[in-house]
Amino acid sequence: MMKCVDDFRLRLGKRELVPIMIGGMGVDISTAELALEAARLGGVGHISDAMIKTVSDRRYETKFVSVKQKRYKHNVANVDKSEVKFDLGDVAEATRLHVQSTMEAKRGEGLIFINCMEKLTMNAPKETLRVRLTTAMDAGIDGITLAAGLHLGSFALMEDHPRFRDVKLGIIVSSLRALQLFLRKSARTGRLPDYVVVEGPLAGGHLGFGLDDWMKYDLRTITTEVLDYLRQEKLDIPVIPAGGIFTGTDAVSYLETGSAAVQVATRFTVSDECGLPAKVQQEYFKASEDDIEVNGISPTGYPMRMLKGSPAIGAGIRPNCEAYGYLLDSNGHCAYIDAYYREVAAHPGDKDIAVWDKTCLCTHMRNFDCWTCGHYTYRLKDTTRRLEDGSYQLLTAEHIFRDYQFSKDGKVALPE
Ligand SMILES: Cc1cc2nc3c(=O)[nH]c(=O)nc-3n(C[C@H](O)[C@H](O)[C@H](O)COP(=O)(O)O)c2cc1C
Repeated sequence: MMKCVDDFRLRLGKRELVPIMIGGMGVDISTAELALEAARLGGVGHISDAMIKTVSDRRYETKFVSVKQKRYKHNVANVDKSEVKFDLGDVAEATRLHVQSTMEAKRGEGLIFINCMEKLTMNAPKETLRVRLTTAMDAGIDGITLAAGLHLGSFALMEDHPRFRDVKLGIIVSSLRALQLFLRKSARTGRLPDYVVVEGPLAGGHLGFGLDDWMKYDLRTITTEVLDYLRQEKLDIPVIPAGGIFTGTDAVSYLETGSAAVQVATRFTVSDECGLPAKVQQEYFKASEDDIEVNGISPTGYPMRMLKGSPAIGAGIRPNCEAYGYLLDSNGHCAYIDAYYREVAAHPGDKDIAVWDKTCLCTHMRNFDCWTCGHYTYRLKDTTRRLEDGSYQLLTAEHIFRDYQFSKDGKVALPE
């Protein structure tokens, strides 16, 4: 008998969920609206706390960014950004607004988690991460997915919080080694993660592999290694593979071999509820395999997959750390600042500077000008219909979710 995803359930504590998790997509691409649909349909949705202050300004009419920009206005032409600090109270307030308003709107049996990336070092890595994590718990989030980093100290940052043992906590890893390190470092808190997302090299966003070797890795192999290890150690932690799971049938192949759920994202980038502007969504639909690349322009140092037509590529704007500054390390440093001022020095007097090796990721993600995407983005055109004007029809998140949930035989259901 051929199975579908709906024949399986994800057990998290006492909860039984449809084993579909929509992954976090930074700077409000995985919106509250998208996460709420996943929860309403009985699965797990993610919001993201990436650039939370600008997200709050856009969604809740706060003025965090202009206030910060004014405070540090004197520093915009300065190469040294070490004094550009985040106000922890503002970070907390923005996080609280986003989490609370999302959780208040939640309907249905599913859950809503928040994606927290360690690489958002915000010129004070530990302090800002602690505020992000504890405020999300204060504001009633169902769970936190630790992403983009090894998070060796993140459980310790949360352990004194009253919800530390009740909120669902998971981590994204791209190797068994990263998981082993995390488990070893977190053991002291007496708490295991509630789930592990294993993200392979075909995912969107940042990749946990090298720029030159990502293609040598394969999600199925890493997932099997993680499953075998956990079984051997008698650790009962649900494993959730992610990256290139494009159809319900792909998902079933993982669920039948010991995975507890799947995390998916790319299919949902072309949903009504997704935060990408409609024009950008058409770029995702139109993309062919040749239009997608993995490059090294993210100042985080992680490779990132994106459409080659992304306006972020080659753009030479002045660093915007006074307004944003989410990638400043503990010394107020970001690789884009170096790249930008190197080009300025090499082209004295030029008005338009091009910077190809790094990008001002904050600004371009904020403006939806960095079109990060999964490997199979070129198949999105096969998931919908072409309209009379030549454009592609957007899908509802419900349609995509149910297609993953019920489809068989490698099929993708087209919209009405
Ligand atoms: C547009 C986009 C943005 C993403 N942003 C993030 C992010 O901010 N944090 C993160 O942990 N993963 C991010 N991801 C990865 C997804 O959460 C997910 O794990 C992965 O893309 C799943 O593979 P799939 O897109 O092939 O389904 C992003 C993916 C996409 C497509």
